[in-house]
Amino acid sequence: MIFPALVKRRTLATMRMHLQGLSEVQQALAERHFDEAAQIATMNLGMSSMHGSQETDDAKYMPPGMKRLGALMHQRAEAFALAAQNAAITGDVRKPLMALSQVMQVCVACHATYRLR
Ligand code: HEC
Repeated sequence: MIFPALVKRRTLATMRMHLQGLSEVQQALAERHFDEAAQIATMNLGMSSMHGSQETDDAKYMPPGMKRLGALMHQRAEAFALAAQNAAITGDVRKPLMALSQVMQVCVACHATYRLR
């Protein structure tokens, strides 16, 4: 699948936002600002950050396997946000940390397989 130049630029910009989101999430976790970590993940990595809003619909250029990995990453980001919200009550950072690593595993898996041509 060939990505049009504009779609490619927009997709890479979203990727950079994802990376920045991860670093902010990690910092918030380290500071035990769990609600903030959940909020950042929801905004920068969650379903609402997907590359497929009605206006842009960039995801239609993704091959099916890539689209599935993208959806999985956004689902895991939502799972992270829930774990972080729970940690705000329990104070236990391990579960959100585990959930965050599961998000990052999907970044790694997709980068290992797909390129934007
Ligand atoms: C569904 C697949 C997929 C997922 C999931 C994914 N990426 Fe990417 N990402 C790509 C592709 C494809 C490229 C472009 C690679 C290329 O063409 O060489 C890319 C590029 C990038 C880049 C380079 C941006 C630039 O300016 O060149 C960054 C940074 C990045 N991704 C971060 C992330 C982070 C962080 C995550 C997880 C939170 C993530 N990506 C999840 C597919 C994905």
